[in-house]
Amino acid sequence: MEKIIVEGGHRLEGTVAVSGAKNAALPILVSALLNEGPNVYHNVPDLRDIRTIKKLLSDLGAQVETEGDVVRINASTLNSYEARYDLVKTMRASVLVLGPLLARLGRARVSLPGGCAIGARPIDLHLKGLERMGADISLDHGYIDARAPALKGADIYFDIVTVTGTENLMMAAVFADGVTTLRNAAREPEVVALAGALNQMGAQITGAGTPLMTITGVDELKPTSLTIMADRIETGTFIIAAGVTRGDIKILGCEPSYLPALVNKVRQAGISVEQEPDGLRVVCDEITSSVDVKTLPYPGFPTDMQAQFMVLMCLAPGLSVVSETIFENRFIHVSELQRMGANIKISGNAAVVQGGKPLTGAPVMATDLRASASLILAGLAAQGTTEVSRVYHIDRGYEAIEKKLAQLGARIWRTQE
Ligand code: UD1
Repeated sequence: MEKIIVEGGHRLEGTVAVSGAKNAALPILVSALLNEGPNVYHNVPDLRDIRTIKKLLSDLGAQVETEGDVVRINASTLNSYEARYDLVKTMRASVLVLGPLLARLGRARVSLPGGCAIGARPIDLHLKGLERMGADISLDHGYIDARAPALKGADIYFDIVTVTGTENLMMAAVFADGVTTLRNAAREPEVVALAGALNQMGAQITGAGTPLMTITGVDELKPTSLTIMADRIETGTFIIAAGVTRGDIKILGCEPSYLPALVNKVRQAGISVEQEPDGLRVVCDEITSSVDVKTLPYPGFPTDMQAQFMVLMCLAPGLSVVSETIFENRFIHVSELQRMGANIKISGNAAVVQGGKPLTGAPVMATDLRASASLILAGLAAQGTTEVSRVYHIDRGYEAIEKKLAQLGARIWRTQE
């Protein structure tokens, strides 16, 4: 197993480019199941989750070719409707194939994802929506077995805003008979990107980016070629990296308007974030204030930035409250940050952070994707050396993070445990 070593205390300076967004690429690559290819996708990040989805698509019979950051998918050879347990268990987002398989083949067998480090994460809303569209769903031997010779348009209300749930039902509805209405739909930029990809293929989707979406069924979708949007969570992670090292960096290829809540909160904490002609400049001379945050569906503060923001608050003077409302167990980074000297107390879904005390390097363990990013950020700011083990978590969602940070002047490298 590999670990990442970070020698803290070095100011970040220079330029870094963000990669394509994992959470946009996953559903968009899956949407290739809805036509007979060839589809071409540019700016696809080289990540473990992306490799998993490509493996799953190949497993279903699609032809998948990768050349650098270009992925070509042709699903004219689709010959299976089963997503195996060993692929779904390594990545819950594999459940995204459910809607497209049902739309294209009228049948899908997808392993039920189990719990995960950040909570129970059920998929009941995906299934209820498909049932409203006429699918017959049963559970056998750990698999969801869905059958629907012909899906029908339906009026669907999500009790909770769900990103992959919205994406799954959008893809299920593209060939349905009539109009599907999704109410309380997720508004994340990645949902908008998927709707754009589907519309480019000939789908009729309106309202993406609002809570009310409509999908009018069409007979077929044609192949497409597109570029995956930049990763807003990677962007946000670099913004915090500049903050915790009192750095001055420029981030290329990102879209800060996709991070409205984060940019607003980091500015309150004393970080300057300005769009310049050649990139997003992030400068921090001093972390001036502690700021409370509460995670919410987009455009609220992203849960995928909660752990990283908490590191910034560990270094800010005063007390802050970080509330997590999306996932019930997303404070597993706290005990590792405490090992680095952070003063954090958890009370229910809130973490109370007493900031202003320097962090000290320590051996710590990555427990999930964004928690790992927070430990690396803490290591960049800490006095001494931090060793982050189990870094396979970070490779699920950050492309070459240690190389990008080293390019900005961080002392960080990867080694075998
Ligand atoms: C997606 C993102 C993930 C991000 C999350 C929240 C992808 C591949 N992953 O995950 O990075 O952290 O959105 O922004 O895009 N829920 C139910 N029933 C359901 C579905 C969801 O109760 O059927 C609950 C979940 O347990 C959670 C909340 O809804 O509490 C939001 O989850 P959801 O938006 O579905 O997360 P994902 O789509 O899995």
